[in-house]
Amino acid sequence: MFDSIRVVNKGTSPVIAFGHFQDEEPDNLTRARAKGLGLADALKAARSRAEATGEAGSIGEAFAGETRVIALGMGKRDACKTSCMRTVAAALGRKLAAIKAPGVTLELSGALNWIRVDEREAGVCFGEGLGLIGWVCDEFRGSATKGSKRTKLEVRGSSNELLDGIDDGLALAASTNIARTLSQTPPNVATPQFMARAAQKLAREVGLKCTIMEGDALEREAMTGHINVGKASENKPCIIRLEYNPNGAKGKAAVLIGKTMCYDTGGLSLKVNNGMVGMKRDKDGGCAVLGAMHAIATVIKPRRKVVALLAAAENSISDEAYRPDDVLTYRNGVTVEVTNTDAEGRLVLADALVWACEKENPAYIVDLATLTGGVVVALGSTFAGMFCEDDKLRAKVEAAANASGERVWRLPMHQEYRDMMKSPVADIVNSNPNRKAHPIQGAAFLSYFVDDKTPWCHLDIAGVHVSDKNAGPYIDGPTGWGVRLLANLVND
Ligand code: BES
Ligand code: MN
Ligand code: ZN
Repeated sequence: MFDSIRVVNKGTSPVIAFGHFQDEEPDNLTRARAKGLGLADALKAARSRAEATGEAGSIGEAFAGETRVIALGMGKRDACKTSCMRTVAAALGRKLAAIKAPGVTLELSGALNWIRVDEREAGVCFGEGLGLIGWVCDEFRGSATKGSKRTKLEVRGSSNELLDGIDDGLALAASTNIARTLSQTPPNVATPQFMARAAQKLAREVGLKCTIMEGDALEREAMTGHINVGKASENKPCIIRLEYNPNGAKGKAAVLIGKTMCYDTGGLSLKVNNGMVGMKRDKDGGCAVLGAMHAIATVIKPRRKVVALLAAAENSISDEAYRPDDVLTYRNGVTVEVTNTDAEGRLVLADALVWACEKENPAYIVDLATLTGGVVVALGSTFAGMFCEDDKLRAKVEAAANASGERVWRLPMHQEYRDMMKSPVADIVNSNPNRKAHPIQGAAFLSYFVDDKTPWCHLDIAGVHVSDKNAGPYIDGPTGWGVRLLANLVND
């Protein structure tokens, strides 16, 4: 889409977008600004185009000499909230990319003040929308693809608050786009080792501590899930730990855990009927956590210590593969009878959860995982499944989700579900052979590896980590779901 997007506060733009609401004329301030710029007639002409319906993201245009004037719809006045700015920005971004505009001035202050929306907050959402729609990943295109030339976009605006917000929004989108590019990276490139190198590079760039636990260290620390799930692959498993620790850090650490299954064949319980395609994205929980750490280090800079653990492995097949019927003993003493090697995510997450509770002194733990197909059936791509029995943490996660537009819906947890995981042989099974309540089984399994006293939230993102259509700020492909939610979450 764009080569880069940059906020500038000097100069003029060839495109000027004036915000207006559906079924209303532009407000007085906006009209006065247009008049001051000698663009009153052009704005009127743009507004009177049939396309300028005023719906969020609608665009009507007219020219005043060389200047392209856009009447930019912001939806119904009483429905317009900060979060609508993502859609509005994405629509404008698509248009600007299509016309290869080198710059745009946003005249939105009048409309935003009319509805008493904080300009800075609206700017953050606008910047997010613009930055998300701007994502391109053509690293894997070759000589048979003719790429079109990408333009640099300069953004100017009607107030410094708006521009400050846009700047932060663009930065949050940039962190999200790191996760999306990693998600897009094919499994013959993005191995666990590749993810470790990517994390180390990111840590160096933004000043985080990064350590990798691999090989003998996994054995020494009894990281049973990683050892077993990863052992059939040439690409060896590892746990990637990132730490953000500001001077004078307040309180205990927030711990963010991401399932980072670089490829999920299902293992010996092999995926069939095309179920394997797309499983390069089974690492998206980890990608989101990595993107969030980038945002935390570069934009959010909270007072709290934040630790990230990426549980990285490749679920493959060979004569060395772990098998259904194997019994695994975990670091916390819990034994697991493997009933299905395709329920591998929970096996590696269990290592990270036990480690976090024992070693990281967590204020709370949030894990993100593309854990079950069942959550896709239940909630589609609209909400992630949320499991959290701690009221305070749940409220925080919900608030962060509302702010970022990454929706979560609570699913139940109950002793009956935990009982479903009991094994006739070991303590628990990794999957109950009957398919009842699959997403909840996953969460119930994980609960055996979290201390009762530690607030914990599990987010099953299998439905939301990828989009199958061009809608809002997303295109068909990875969404980077959770980066901005996690960044908002630790900001207290
Ligand atoms: N990675 C998959 C879940 C998944 C499915 C993610 C579809 C994204 C899209 C996970 O490891 C898996 O295989 N889950 C099984 C669990 C079952 C074997 C208990 C599933 O959902 O069928
Ligand atoms: Mn699986
Ligand atoms: Zn998986």
